[in-house]
Amino acid sequence: MAKVLVLFAHPGQRHSRVNIQMAGIARGIEGVTFVDLYSEYPKLDIDIDLEQDRLLKHDVVIFQFPIYWYSTPSILKEWQDLVLEYGFAYGHTGDKLAGKAFLPVVTAGGPDQAYSEHGSNHFRLRSLLSPLEQTANLCGMRFVAPYALFAAHDAGPDGRAEPHLQGYKRLLETLRAETFDIDAARRLELLSADTLPLREGISHE
Ligand SMILES: Cc1cc2nc3c(=O)[nH]c(=O)nc-3n(C[C@H](O)[C@H](O)[C@H](O)COP(=O)(O)O)c2cc1C
Repeated sequence: MAKVLVLFAHPGQRHSRVNIQMAGIARGIEGVTFVDLYSEYPKLDIDIDLEQDRLLKHDVVIFQFPIYWYSTPSILKEWQDLVLEYGFAYGHTGDKLAGKAFLPVVTAGGPDQAYSEHGSNHFRLRSLLSPLEQTANLCGMRFVAPYALFAAHDAGPDGRAEPHLQGYKRLLETLRAETFDIDAARRLELLSADTLPLREGISHE
């Protein structure tokens, strides 16, 4: 069984509709370590040793967050700036994260068609997340296509929220059971509930 770490960052949880439910699912899966970064560090005083120790104990690292200003909420940047130290995460002897999988799990207010070269946001979501991808690359981690929900505000009323929540549960459970096909997921642009690649010949019913 793989050890899965979810680092959750949502600065406005009392207004959250989707992430708060996703967080509830992640918390409830046995063997998944769930960390609410804003609750743990309301003053952003991140405990570097504790966070590095957590990373060492897990095989899969997930950042779960809503897109804020085309990027992560600020605590995830602070976390990266402090925790991914030279000699630990990168550099001459910095190989402690090598081989681990890294997966962003994101929700966006904008619709998917806005996230394209000719759409109103001008960039693909995957392009906007390229700093995370390259950070993972530099640390020798295996960057997995983001599990994404667009137009998150409409997802409840239009019926997309429930399959997305069930897909998140399946994603976490199959990562944990090592039946999620990480290599196949690395070749995709984005993941959704309908496109989770599972390893051939393994049934999840
Ligand atoms: C400060 C702020 C900045 C935001 N920036 C973006 C953005 O750049 N792109 C986008 O698609 N949505 C943006 N949103 C919308 C959030 O991504 C959206 O509210 C969230 O994904 C919904 O998930 P939730 O119900 O869990 O809060 C922003 C929201 C806030 C409050």
